Amino acid sequence: MPSLFVANWKENGTISQAQDWIKTFAKKRSVLNQGKNVVVCSPFTALSTISEVIKKERLPIAIGAQNVSHFEEGRYTGEVSARMLAEFASYTIIGHSERRNNFGETDQIVAEKVKLAEKYNITPIVCISELEQVKNMQNFVSNFTDIIAYEPLFAIGSGNPDTPENANMVAEKIKEIFPQVMVLYGGSVDGTNVASFIKQDHISGVLLGNRSLDGNFFLEIVRNAH
Ligand code: PGA
Repeated sequence: MPSLFVANWKENGTISQAQDWIKTFAKKRSVLNQGKNVVVCSPFTALSTISEVIKKERLPIAIGAQNVSHFEEGRYTGEVSARMLAEFASYTIIGHSERRNNFGETDQIVAEKVKLAEKYNITPIVCISELEQVKNMQNFVSNFTDIIAYEPLFAIGSGNPDTPENANMVAEKIKEIFPQVMVLYGGSVDGTNVASFIKQDHISGVLLGNRSLDGNFFLEIVRNAH
């Protein structure tokens, strides 16, 4: 199975930065043909541009959002629905710890977002920082078969990743709860440690924040991961 590399730009990335990022891959597209799949999760404002450039350059890069509304449509000022996202994105991050902690997203809200994303054929990448959150998902989602990213709080943006062995153990436990999910690891992944996560039996890819912002940097991490 190919490994998945998810770039999470968070609240970063203007249109021109997004264009440059994609063009980096256009110049070195061979990196994408080695059993490695890339998903770029940009802010909503760059999705349309990214989609155009990817089509123009015929790049095998998938597009993701970083969030989706838990309401289907209507009077919810400022929200972006799954149906709107489906015009650009095939993935969306849901329940990142920065959303759970700063915007009060509960396990129930996360589950509502998952259901709407699936309804509009967008693959959810649900972030969890503790196994408890996966257990709680069971109360709302009977059989989750998409992607879960294990991202321990201490590891996010700290330069202090979890050990690959512990991440693998957590991934195994996640699969005991939802046997068909693909598990990613996220939190201070960089060029020096990416391979050690990718090679774990239960880990199918990585999610990068900081190290995904510079296209060249991210591309080198993808290239060197094996
Ligand atoms: P980081 O962030 O790679 O900067 O640690 C990962 C994330 O928050 O998804």
